[in-house]
Parts: sequence; C-alpha cells; structure tokens
Amino acid sequence: SRGLVLADGLEGVAAFETGLSLIDGDEGRISYRDYPAEAFQYDKSFEEVAYLLWYGKFPMTEKSEEFQRILAARRFLPKHVKLTVDQMPAEVDMMSVLQTAVSALKDCESIWPPSWDQASSIVSKIPTIIAYRQARLEGREMIEPRLDLNHTANYLYMLFGEVPTELQQTMLETYLVLTQELGSNPSTFTARVVASTRSDLISSTSAAIGALKGPLHGGAPSEVLEILREIKSVDRAEAWLRRALESDRRIMGFGHRIFKRQDPRSAMLKALALRFAADHPLVKLAVEVEETILRLLEEYKPGRRLVTNVDYYASVVLSVIGLKESLFTPTFAVSRSVGWCAHIMEQAMHNRLIYPQAVYSRDLHSHRPPAWFGR
Ligand code: CMC
Repeated sequence: SRGLVLADGLEGVAAFETGLSLIDGDEGRISYRDYPAEAFQYDKSFEEVAYLLWYGKFPMTEKSEEFQRILAARRFLPKHVKLTVDQMPAEVDMMSVLQTAVSALKDCESIWPPSWDQASSIVSKIPTIIAYRQARLEGREMIEPRLDLNHTANYLYMLFGEVPTELQQTMLETYLVLTQELGSNPSTFTARVVASTRSDLISSTSAAIGALKGPLHGGAPSEVLEILREIKSVDRAEAWLRRALESDRRIMGFGHRIFKRQDPRSAMLKALALRFAADHPLVKLAVEVEETILRLLEEYKPGRRLVTNVDYYASVVLSVIGLKESLFTPTFAVSRSVGWCAHIMEQAMHNRLIYPQAVYSRDLHSHRPPAWFGR
C-alpha cells in the first residue's frame, strides 16, 4: 500500500507516548517517572515504587502504609480460583497456571474503563496464585498470606513458610523494584494492545503473561542457569561457547533490542549479587564466565552489540535467594504486573485503538518451514 512503512519486529517504531518511564537504550539508562533507577534501587520497597509508577510520586509514610494495607487486604484468593488451579495437571507450567488463574479473577470482570482497584487486586493476588500452586505441587497445604508482611516478604513467606532473612528480603526487593517497568517491552505492548480494544484489565494482564513466558522476553532466566550448569567451570567456558555459537545457539541472558551499550538492570543486579553474596559459587562462576561470553559473542556476532541483559544476573540473584528455577519467570510477573497495570490505565485514559498493518507478500507462499518447525 502507498505510504506503508515496514518495520520488521517493529524495531525503531514508537507505538505510543508514556509518562511512566524513560528508557535510554544508547546510554543504558532507566528512569521511572523522573527518578533514575540507581537512585532508589536499594532503599525503596516494592509498594513505594509501584505507587510512584501508578500515582506519579513516591508516597509519604502515611500514604505508603495505607497503600501497603490496600494491597495486603487483596492477597486472598477466591475459592473458585483455587479450585481452578487444583484442576490443572502437574505438568502444566506455572506461567500457564498463572494466566488461567488471573483470567478467573472474577472481582475484576469485564468492565470498561479499568480501575486502580482492579489493578491492586491483580498485583496483590499474583504472588498468592504462584504460592498456592507451588504448595499443591509440593503436596502440602497453602501457607496463607500474612497481613503484617510487605509484598516481598509475604511472597517469600508463602513460598518458604518462614519470614525471609535480610539477605533474601533485600535481594528480592531490589530485583522486584528494578523489573517493574520497561517501556514498550513485548508483554507491556501486548497488554496495551488488548486494553486499546476496550477489553478488561484481566484480559490485558493474562495476555501479557502469555507474552512474558517466551524465552526471548521473560522466559530466559531458567535457561541461563542451565547454560552455567553445563559450562560448570570457567576453564570449560570457551570450548562450550564456541560449540554453542558454531551451532547457532543463542546464549540466554545476552542481547537486547533496546540496550546496545549496557542493560542497566544487569549492572545493578551484578552489583547486588557481589555486595551480598560475592562468595557464592554461582555468583563467582557467573562473573567469570560473563567476560568469556561477551568476548566470544563479539567474535561470532561482530557489531551486533550484544550486552549482558537483565536475565543473566536475575537468574543468579533469584537462585541465591533460594527460588526454584520454575519460579523465575513467574517472579518476573510478580514485578512486571505493576508496569502492565500502569500502562493499561495510561492506555485507557488516552485510548486510541492500536491497529498496525501487514504488508502482503507472495514471496512467503514458497517458503518451506525450517526443519525444526513443528508440523
Ligand atoms: N546469542 C547469540 N546470538 C545472538 C543473541 C544471543 N543471545 N542475541 C542476538 N544474537 C544475534 C542474532 O542471532 C542475530 O544474528 P544475525 O545478525 O547473524 O542474524 C543478531 O544477534 C541480532 O539479533 P536479533 O534477534 O535480530 O535481535 P533482537 O533485537 O530482535 O533480539 C533478543 C533481542 C533479546 C531477542 C536476543 O538478543 C536474544 O534472543 N537473546 C537471548 C534471549 C534473552 O536473553 N532474552 C531476554 C531478554 S531481556 C528481557 C527483556 O527486557 O525483555
């Protein structure tokens, strides 16, 4: 068609304006509203940062406590959601369970426009859904949420049955704060597309969960650990990586669509791991192997500017905290749900249907599917 611009993968295209975050890919910087992430990474809680994203400023003490109470009160799951989770066979992965359970949250049913009340309900219940499913998988009773604990501490408490140590609390809180928001990333974009049709907040969020699950977006951290496990020690790294890169394998935890100089989250999570767990064997291995990976990526993929992305050190941090690998991506959903809801509300307030076009191409008729493609 006349005037139609094809941008493969929508690279270099802005689909909407946002007042939520500034993502500077060239400089490798992230700001939530006007606050650079470095400024609040250690001293703000999950709730305070969520409040900043949702309402535009950090809350004063009283407001902060009130917001924490609002979120805490919504942690409990309706019975039918628990029953829905119970129906799902153990082989169904946690992200699919999460998506289904979120879809079943009836207190946020089909209403336009979405509300902050619904957003609080979804964000509060996501950790409980994960903990409920995990308890069932482990064949034990659910540990019910505790109202006196904050969002981060309560999540760990529901998973482990104990109030977290200071190390667990600080490491997870920092991870959750740094990953709440990242502009028009694939899952957030998905959420906004769904919201732009005037569909409800639940549908927008469950669609976003589906997008986050993919290894090119949020599903990579467990694969990072697999790679580190296979490499085992730094002296084996080079040979292993050469084999992998020669067979065109992607090294999970590296490369980013927006960040070409550095992914600031990776730098901050690396600093966090070194500050609190420098002697941990996984931290040591990850730091040593990172250098080799970056060198070989530059050798095999020159000029692509492949940086260490958030998933590399996220996998290390979450593992040091004691989370199972199957919980890495769901834990990403715990934090990113804040950003999704902020974007859904922003989209709803300034809505215009998101509806890009496709370019018809006869050339694609003759393309045979690659050998690895499912029938
Ligand atoms: N290992 C090896 N080669 C890579 C990698 C990698 N991790 N990432 C990109 N490349 C190569 C790719 O094969 C391509 O090579 P060529 O030019 O020869 O075809 C080139 O670099 C450009 O890749 P692309 O797929 O066009 O780049 P993109 O901007 O579309 O992809 C990415 C970004 C994250 C999907 C990709 O870097 C990747 O697959 N990384 C591994 C998965 C991963 O770590 N995902 C988590 C991303 S961070 C979470 C988030 O913010 O969403």
